[in-house]
Amino acid sequence: MATSFTKSTKLTFIIISLVAIFTSSKADQLSELKQTSMTLYFQVYFGGPNATMKPITFSADPWSFKQFGTIFCTDDPMNVGIDQDSAQVARAQGIYVTSALDGSNTHVLISIVFSNEEFDGSTLEVQGTSKQFERVREVAVVGGTGRFQLARGYATLETVHLDLSLSYSIIEGNFTLWHY
Ligand SMILES: *[C@@H]1O[C@H](CO)[C@@H](O)[C@H](O)[C@H]1NC(C)=O
Ligand SMILES: *[C@@H]1O[C@H](CO)[C@@H](O)[C@H](O)[C@H]1NC(C)=O
Repeated sequence: MATSFTKSTKLTFIIISLVAIFTSSKADQLSELKQTSMTLYFQVYFGGPNATMKPITFSADPWSFKQFGTIFCTDDPMNVGIDQDSAQVARAQGIYVTSALDGSNTHVLISIVFSNEEFDGSTLEVQGTSKQFERVREVAVVGGTGRFQLARGYATLETVHLDLSLSYSIIEGNFTLWHY
């Protein structure tokens, strides 16, 4: 009788301890969550000899962002300022797919690959629907690596400069992130 009482007391103690450990580590992790905000400028050449964007599949010539099914690959420099001579800190590498039949939405699947001293080698993974012809688009940040492990957040994108003669545009990206 005494033995079984001791056993069950021990078991209860172990269970309570496990719950306590689990709860405290969860609470510690949540309190460690940091918020980072940053504004970066995508320098996009959508044509010309130095294009940073290339169509992969398209069914009309010339290709168009508006055509359902168009997939294009991008490798855009990302600078800290609107000026393309400002410091480049990352590149936006990935694909966009025109995913709405009427051409209004593009599906964004890109990595922001950092090369500056502070975040070198870290990445942010951006994925989601962008209402590509609206003034301000919002996309989700679904993860990250390095300094941005387990990042969650969102980014707003706004075209702040467009020069059709140079096939050049600048997109302002405001990133709001929570990460460890
Ligand atoms: C393309 O890049 C080269 C090398 O950086 C540069 O000399 C040239 O002016 C650029 N051309 C255009 C149209 O931007
Ligand atoms: C993005 O951030 C810049 C700089 O803080 C600000 O001027 C701009 O209004 C923001 N854009 C959006 C769409 O929130």
